[in-house]
Amino acid sequence: MKKILITGGAGFIGSHVVRRFVNKYPNYHIYNLDALTYAGNLENIVDIEQKQNYTFIKGDIVDADFINTLFKEHQFDGVLHLAAESHVDRSITDPLSFVKTNVIGTMNLLNAAKEIWKGNYEGKRFYHISTDEVYGSLGETGLFTETTSYDPNSPYSASKASSDHFVRAYGETYGLPYVLTNCSNNYGPNHFPEKLIPLFINNIINKKSLPVYGDGKYTRDWLFVEDHAVAIDLVFHEGKNHETYNIGGFNEWQNIELVKLLCKLMDEKLGRKAGESEELITYVKDRPGHDLRYAIDASKINKELGWKPSVTFEEGLEKTIDWYLSNEIWLKNVTSRDYKKYYDNQYNM
Ligand code: NAD
Ligand code: TYD
Repeated sequence: MKKILITGGAGFIGSHVVRRFVNKYPNYHIYNLDALTYAGNLENIVDIEQKQNYTFIKGDIVDADFINTLFKEHQFDGVLHLAAESHVDRSITDPLSFVKTNVIGTMNLLNAAKEIWKGNYEGKRFYHISTDEVYGSLGETGLFTETTSYDPNSPYSASKASSDHFVRAYGETYGLPYVLTNCSNNYGPNHFPEKLIPLFINNIINKKSLPVYGDGKYTRDWLFVEDHAVAIDLVFHEGKNHETYNIGGFNEWQNIELVKLLCKLMDEKLGRKAGESEELITYVKDRPGHDLRYAIDASKINKELGWKPSVTFEEGLEKTIDWYLSNEIWLKNVTSRDYKKYYDNQYNM
């Protein structure tokens, strides 16, 4: 039986990846390592907690001794590394915690994998899940490809760029078998309501203002989280060693247009009159260093591995809204802890 470590599996994307691997691969034992920060939530994976091929481990990837002991004890065959500090706005107020988790935490995992594998790399793989934000910002045209130079602008993207570089460096220097993916913005169930889509869904439900940064003309490419999980599965199993794959939704939206669509769909779902939620839109002070546009050329993963998104944006958004409307308790729980303090600080309430 192969032993696979997935880090960050109580978070948004990680929980979808862990569920997929536990259910689809009974011949793997899946170890889910997560520190359960504000973004980690065991409620995200409650349906798999009793599975025979699954173990949850609470722990911090920044703690090198703990990580080394864990790797020695379990002798993992593969690592899918998703644990991270993931929110750009938090990286602006507290950049150091991004260096700790995203850079040092990744280093600790790389060192521990190198140490237990000792150059016997047959059947071993280290997979770093990263972001398209490492490429910086596009103008009105163009797409990020796998050969676009790194040019990160936020402390978040700088920390992810740095960890990507270390993963590559371990591949070049020690021969560590790695794969790396850089993906565009995800959305879907279990998304913590600090990022645009879940935050706005929560605010629409509660008839709170919708804080659009700057003029709202910033553009992102959006991918349904389950499609990302499918891509991750494929790259882990069929991606070529020492390669990067860009993953994207072929689905660019200006923030303001996306917010208007969300308002329309939510008004329909909530039985509110047309246009009611749009009245909640409030333009607020812009994010410093705000990247204008991200857009992905995902033709490499499409051509080499046959992956493409399966869900249209309208379908994905509807699934997402339905999930939030039928998971009121989840939403109430995640917005009851330190959330109010974060929200008030971030939006100067
Ligand atoms: P998330 O913030 O929802 O979850 C992160 C998880 O990591 C949480 O469960 C948290 O408890 C855990 N974690 C944080 N610090 C830890 C530490 N020191 N030790 C152990 N666990 C720790 O993030 P997400 O949106 O699910 O993103 C997962 C990964 O995918 C990240 O690496 C992120 O950079 C990358 N990514 C995210 C997106 C996106 O749109 N969300 C897009 C592309 C890439
Ligand atoms: P976000 O979901 O934080 O993802 P990222 O910054 O990683 O792309 O933000 C998506 C876009 O939405 C980005 O252009 C910033 C904008 N935004 C707002 O306008 N208001 C908000 O309250 C948030 C959280 C984001």
